[in-house]
Amino acid sequence: MVVVKIAFILSVGLVGILAHKHQSKELDAKYNWWQHEVFYQIYPRSFQDSNGDGIGDLQGITSRLQYFKDTGITSVWLSPIYESPMVDFGYDISNYTNIQPEYGTLEDFDALIAKANELGVKVILDFVPNHSSNKHPWFIKSVAREPGYEDFYVWEDGILLENGTRVPPNNWLSVFSGSAWMWNDERQQYYLRQFTYGQPDLNYRNPAVIKAMDDVMLFWLNKGIAGFRIDAIIYIYEDAQLRDEPPSGTTDDPNNEAYLSHIYTRNQPEDYGLLQHWRQLLDNYTANHDGPLRIMMTEGYASVSQLMEYYEDSNGVQGPQFPFNFDFITELNANSTAADFVFYISRWLIYMPHGHVANWVMGNHDNPRVASRFGEKSVDAMNMLLMTLPGIGITYNGEELGMTDYRDISWSDTVDQPACEAGIDNYKTISRDPERTPMQWSSDVNAGFSSADRTWLPVNPNYKELNLRNQQQARRSHYKIYQSLLKLRQLPVLKNGSFVPEVVNRRVFAFKRELKNEHTLLTIVNVSNRTELVDIADFIEQPNRLSVLVAGVDSQHRVGDRLKAETIELAPNEGLVIQLNKRK
Ligand code: NOJ
Repeated sequence: MVVVKIAFILSVGLVGILAHKHQSKELDAKYNWWQHEVFYQIYPRSFQDSNGDGIGDLQGITSRLQYFKDTGITSVWLSPIYESPMVDFGYDISNYTNIQPEYGTLEDFDALIAKANELGVKVILDFVPNHSSNKHPWFIKSVAREPGYEDFYVWEDGILLENGTRVPPNNWLSVFSGSAWMWNDERQQYYLRQFTYGQPDLNYRNPAVIKAMDDVMLFWLNKGIAGFRIDAIIYIYEDAQLRDEPPSGTTDDPNNEAYLSHIYTRNQPEDYGLLQHWRQLLDNYTANHDGPLRIMMTEGYASVSQLMEYYEDSNGVQGPQFPFNFDFITELNANSTAADFVFYISRWLIYMPHGHVANWVMGNHDNPRVASRFGEKSVDAMNMLLMTLPGIGITYNGEELGMTDYRDISWSDTVDQPACEAGIDNYKTISRDPERTPMQWSSDVNAGFSSADRTWLPVNPNYKELNLRNQQQARRSHYKIYQSLLKLRQLPVLKNGSFVPEVVNRRVFAFKRELKNEHTLLTIVNVSNRTELVDIADFIEQPNRLSVLVAGVDSQHRVGDRLKAETIELAPNEGLVIQLNKRK
């Protein structure tokens, strides 16, 4: 009953205890490896092109794996690399167990894993269970009502009005605007799609669908991956009675998804059960194979209490190792006060069920970049937060350089489907292209991303100055700071230390990380655009000497500088990581 044992160990939070009780290194590697990781998100299309077609690919990623080793990154997660018509750039999958030809082959993937293993980098894949592509053979067979596939997707007749017109079965809306129901002429029914027209929702009330997706997971696990990032999990089940959703009262636009309160299409009770099933599958796999604990992390924008249920339900049954915490994206921005930061950071830690691990997502391919959300001056401070808060950090590619959104992408260069559907007058406000532009490696042609005449999305013209090579050569740079923070994370105080926050004033907050017999670390951030002089003597145990461990690129402070707790000067948006040395 190894499986049960593992589930039990995990459910009572013994993993943490094991860690503290000198267990063997293998156990540590198997169970705890993920608890303090920084997971680096690679957007494959924009990371590195190896064959000059202007599109990133697997060989490109493999050629850059050494970069992770040099930087100190030991885990990456890849946005989808599977066969896809690319309506939603890989989130519309037409073959779950093959590689998109533009990206390479299964052999390229094996080579990527082999090289990653050699360098000690774990690979997590995106798993997109909610919907396939409308070009997937399952959908084509379902349209044709082929036996075994009739109910693979969510099909409905709709309502026939007295005047003879047919309308969708209810008022549900797509996340990307308009009705969630699309008419299919051949089958003479509506299919549910919560994203683009090319992403029909799979029907998880059909056991054959669950079986098919389990097989997909096993296929990739057998290829040597360390787990999955699970896409769009909150959309996986919908109300079986198809009840209309009530208006939310937040917008007058009936096509905008915010028009409705999504009580019947998101976070349905069955979602949790499905995740628990996958958790079992992964735990089972780990129990029967060598290698690390295979983990899962889930994507879902939901309320904090709903998200906490994903960690574990009220009976303590375990779900994913962690649901992504998007508070730095959804709740905090350039106008947030110090209290807002302390509030949202603490909220996650307070709500999180006992024995679980926090995580902080700073960015992704669906939202504006850190420099564009918080301001370019905030890049280092945000990375300091990511790296010194308790738990797991998640970095989107390019954030270690402080890459910025390229907001001036023209209408003709726009490729993000919802932006294309929004039209020339509205595309800019919703397009996700600006944060997906190619990685800026150097000042060479196309930022060193590709040798093509034209890349799939334009390279941000600021690459001439803002690129990795420049930052590697500079005395101080965002990249070097990021790298030093990753090193710092190895300190036991950052792995296991307690967290004590303080709102210093409206514009400045700080937190201490404390651990017995270790120096306390303090992170302090000025979230405003004016210089602040603060006195934090009350907050730190006296007598102490303060020395700077990490300072931002523009800081007047230098690593090793001594500070006085009574007079710490912080430039606009400056962050510092400080060591408190007890006086002997
Ligand atoms: C979330 C993904 O991150 C996003 O890019 C995609 O459009 C939707 N899920 C649909 O799969």
